[in-house]
Amino acid sequence: MRNMRLKAALGMAGVLAMTAACCVVGPALAADSASTADEIVRGGEPDGDVQYPGKEYIVENYDKWDKIAEEYAPEIIRYSNGQLVQRTPTEYECPHWMQQSWTISYNTYYLDADNRGCNSCHADMNAMIENMEYKHATIDNKALETYSDVNQCISCHRDNGDDFGRLIHAIHYNERSGNKFAEGSNGTCQSCHDATADGNGMQLWDNVKHEALQGINKVENVQGEFASTQDKVQTQDELYSYDFVHGYYDHMRYACGPNGLDIDLPQSMFDEWEFTVDGNVNAPYTKKLPELVAEAEAAGVVVTKPSKMVCELNPIGGGGIGQAEITGIPVSWLIEKAGGYTEDTNSVRVIRADGSSRSGFDLSVLDKGYLVYKIDGEYLSARHGFPVMHWQETYDAQIFSKQINGYHVSSDVMDERVCGQVNQEDAHVNRPNVTVCGVPEGLIIQNGKPFTFNGYADAFDHPMKTVEFSMDGGETWTSFDVGDVDPAKWLWWSFTFTPEKEGAYVLSVRGTDIDGEVSYRNHEVLVNAKDEMPSEDEITEIGKIVDPAMANGDASGDQQ
Ligand code: HEC
Ligand code: HEC
Ligand code: HEC
Repeated sequence: MRNMRLKAALGMAGVLAMTAACCVVGPALAADSASTADEIVRGGEPDGDVQYPGKEYIVENYDKWDKIAEEYAPEIIRYSNGQLVQRTPTEYECPHWMQQSWTISYNTYYLDADNRGCNSCHADMNAMIENMEYKHATIDNKALETYSDVNQCISCHRDNGDDFGRLIHAIHYNERSGNKFAEGSNGTCQSCHDATADGNGMQLWDNVKHEALQGINKVENVQGEFASTQDKVQTQDELYSYDFVHGYYDHMRYACGPNGLDIDLPQSMFDEWEFTVDGNVNAPYTKKLPELVAEAEAAGVVVTKPSKMVCELNPIGGGGIGQAEITGIPVSWLIEKAGGYTEDTNSVRVIRADGSSRSGFDLSVLDKGYLVYKIDGEYLSARHGFPVMHWQETYDAQIFSKQINGYHVSSDVMDERVCGQVNQEDAHVNRPNVTVCGVPEGLIIQNGKPFTFNGYADAFDHPMKTVEFSMDGGETWTSFDVGDVDPAKWLWWSFTFTPEKEGAYVLSVRGTDIDGEVSYRNHEVLVNAKDEMPSEDEITEIGKIVDPAMANGDASGDQQ
């Protein structure tokens, strides 16, 4: 028995000599060695109780690497909402061909993974954006629990024609922050990039880390329980608003909204609000808003129903989407009241209270437009456009103008509307959009227990057809047909998966719409399945210092 083991070990050396001669090196050998690691029971002594001359040298080397593994243990943090996150996978097995330890902490000792990627310094990117001096659009969505990542920044910033690299390089190397980045945080190019020899140059670490890191279990044709519904609704407070500050009335809404002074606008504004329907109509009119609402209610035309709102720019992974119960007057009825539209009419412009008109809608979707005065049974909040907003089902939120005071029926020929964002290469970067909510990168879950991933799927005016999952980096996909989908509503899905082996898993999600269009990018989240939850002394709290990189003094930068 003893000799057999020893023989096997010597046999290995033979293989080493051979493969080395074929010049196969490094990670290419990793696959071979997995079986070797499996045969040796981890945790005890190398080679079990087999004894051989010089064994103490081998044992000592294993001990040394165990100490390194302790010192370089992947960092575990607790978000202020209680979620435990470990961004770098634990290496439970040592898939290295040179079997000289239970682990060489490849991820943390060599690749320095805990100190790379935007999240290594900005533990919570939502908080980082919120804490900027600059009043950024509200990309945080607490109700949906979405987490910002660099691809979302790129979706808005680069795919719109700006250069995001220029902005981010300047921010980290400028006179104001350069020192804090370099000295306070040990920041280098490698903090954000992966410099490789594969011809791909300086890729973002966050985009390649799932391929580079060890300890990620792959599951072919991942199985799980899938369910979906279009009925999930949010309260008005939960419903997102990007709070763009683009013009005069935006300023008022921003100042009164939750990011500003959080104050209610006076009811008198509703009572005094005048509303006009004019243009290509037979009998234009202007009426006080309460009067118009009372007439519509009396006529029984007011509609109350769950309906979706989604921003044209909502990135994959983003929180610019929601669904709430709206109460509104059909625009068709308002135009009917003006004696109907004249013959050559093809569109309706939505007029904002400052006299401007951002856009209009084609007559073909007239029956999908509403003048909304309540959400979730309550009058609108300032940020949602008190006293009235326009709501256009199946269009993106660009046309959901707030604080409007009229419809101008017209014969402007509108461009054909393409919902969602199109980049310079004509790709739909956010259609279809399948996003996982509530799972920050690196979330720790219990091994052996079912875990339910949730999220939304949406393709603007195109009905979704499938929602698809992969746990082997996109090699195989498990596809679920979502049946008949109403594009005026979002699709909320759940997928329950049970990890059967300790280690990290990366769930990739994507979808297709009824035209067969596939998501431009997958949304990916990494979770760590553990037999035992981490003990308190392994956890770093980040609840109090929301963004270490931006805090002053000792707490800055590196969290190790
Ligand atoms: C090695 C640490 C480190 C990494 C990695 C890092 N940052 Fe930063 N970041 C900083 C520091 C330090 C500052 C300056 C903070 C200050 O001046 O208070 C900063 C500032 C910023 C700001 C400006 C905030 C403001 O107040 O105006 C933005 C935006 C930002 N980072 C985005 C990113 C993005 C996106 C990534 C990933 C691509 C990233 N950072 C990666 C350390 C880092
Ligand atoms: C929903 C779209 C959207 C997302 C997502 C988004 N931004 Fe922005 N951001 C904007 C817009 C719009 C502006 C204002 C640009 C302007 O005024 O020209 C802006 C402005 C900024 C600015 C001020 C400097 C400038 O270019 O105007 C910084 C810095 C910034 N964003 C960083 C980020 C970072 C970092 C992320 C990712 C965490 C991010 N943004 C995600 C839309 C977005
Ligand atoms: C704080 C994060 C950060 C740091 C530090 C950083 N970069 Fe970048 N870099 C970015 C981002 C973000 C982009 C834009 C990526 C995109 O738009 O896809 C980028 C883009 C680039 C690109 C273009 C890549 C391509 O494929 O087109 C190069 C080259 C580059 N960086 C080089 C560097 C070098 C050299 C350093 C060190 C001196 C450095 N970067 C430091 C964040 C960073």
